[in-house]
Amino acid sequence: MKKIIKRIGISILALLGLLLVVAGSMGLMGQRDLNKTRAIQSQQVNIPTDSASIAAGQRWATVLCTGCHGENYAGSKFMDVPALGMVCAPNLTPAGVGRYYRDADWVRAIRYGLNPQNKAFVIMPSENFQYLSDEHLGQLTAYLKSLPPVRADLALPKLHFFEHGHVPSGGYGIATYR
Ligand code: HEC
Repeated sequence: MKKIIKRIGISILALLGLLLVVAGSMGLMGQRDLNKTRAIQSQQVNIPTDSASIAAGQRWATVLCTGCHGENYAGSKFMDVPALGMVCAPNLTPAGVGRYYRDADWVRAIRYGLNPQNKAFVIMPSENFQYLSDEHLGQLTAYLKSLPPVRADLALPKLHFFEHGHVPSGGYGIATYR
């Protein structure tokens, strides 16, 4: 009987140890993610300006982007969990991201999940959007560029998990795109 209890005790300790290692490496991975820059081969995608392409882009955006960035694309709170932190999906209109983004920046963000400084996003699901063809990505970008500017007052992101409650300076482009 004693032996069994001892064995159970050892297994529980081993499990706890494993959990610590996993939690620790997740923490490290998180910090690495926020600070990482990733160079990509810049790709030229043609951004059309005709109304048919913009209408097609609107369909892509409605399905793929409004869920997080809001019906009017002016951004919305994505997550607000006391233990984890708060993140907003930023304002994509010309009063927000659109004010700073050049064509290549839209492609980099949507297809590769990188901000103009080549820093990786944490939540933005670009891995789902990498399959958009050049034509469809061009339509989507054309529509986003055609949006009316909407001002929004979104809070700055705070991720406790990543760096003790502070978003590292220089990372996380969204700080500038409220
Ligand atoms: C699951 C929610 C979600 C969906 C769906 C989503 N986004 Fe995002 N997006 C975010 C969040 C949250 C951020 C803030 C950065 C991050 O993820 O760390 C972001 C960031 C961005 C940025 C970066 C702005 C900057 O700081 O440079 C752009 C551009 C963007 N999204 C465009 C889009 C477009 C276009 C679509 C649709 C094709 C889309 N997003 C769909 C959640 C989402």
